[in-house]
Amino acid sequence: MTHLKLTNIYASRCKACHGADGLGKWLDDQGYIFPPLVDEDLFSDAGKLLGSASQ
Ligand code: HEC
Repeated sequence: MTHLKLTNIYASRCKACHGADGLGKWLDDQGYIFPPLVDEDLFSDAGKLLGSASQ
């Protein structure tokens, strides 16, 4: 447990709420109940966080 990949941390600690793709959870009547961690401006940062960067 001395070294964990960030993606493993995300999958185990964050994905349930923020979603596997980091897009959060949207309800039409409530808006985001869990905010997205990615948007167009933050895509490259989110890619690093999720380990799915396209570059
Ligand atoms: C139990 C559900 C839950 C888990 C698990 C969770 N979050 Fe969140 N997260 C939320 C909610 C709800 C908010 C919105 C809080 C608010 O608006 O006050 C939030 C907000 C955020 C924000 C701010 C987003 C913004 O646009 O303001 C970031 C960044 C974030 N979380 C990252 C993470 C990371 C990284 C992890 C894993 C280490 C994680 N969260 C785990 C529910 C969760």
